[in-house]
Amino acid sequence: MEFKFTEENLKKIEEAVKKYPVKKAAVMPVLYIAQEQNGWISQEVIKEVASVLEMHAEDVLGVVTFYTMYHKKPAGKYHLQVCTNVSCMLRGANKIYDHVKDKLKISNGEVTDDNLFSLEEVECMGSCGTAPMIAVNEDFFENLDIQKVDQILESLNK
Ligand code: FES
Repeated sequence: MEFKFTEENLKKIEEAVKKYPVKKAAVMPVLYIAQEQNGWISQEVIKEVASVLEMHAEDVLGVVTFYTMYHKKPAGKYHLQVCTNVSCMLRGANKIYDHVKDKLKISNGEVTDDNLFSLEEVECMGSCGTAPMIAVNEDFFENLDIQKVDQILESLNK
């Protein structure tokens, strides 16, 4: 399906590009704007970002595949990123990850049937001092235990 930025997002891109010496240096914020609009980074999104920033689609793809924050396939309304790296693991992240998988009945990279949740097991998100943690879209939830995870999931399920 063809992808074109909205007028509003084209203005945001114009502002983002002004912050960099060359257009293509704005690829990360522009991809973020694209993801907000489309929900994920499809081939069509990559083509459009490349066109807007006058760069090769392969170079845009390289950025998309390198960073975990860009969704390479459709995500749920709430994208859950569960960190299972060392600090989180030592404080029970694997139990939390398994609990989320069981509760939502999905595995890594999957989306629930109602498209409400998607799940991703991730590496350190820089919140080790308050491990274990989960990110729900842009929001971090920290110092978690199973009970707190249940409260978060229930609050999102309303
Ligand atoms: S190890 Fe989980 S946030 Fe750093």
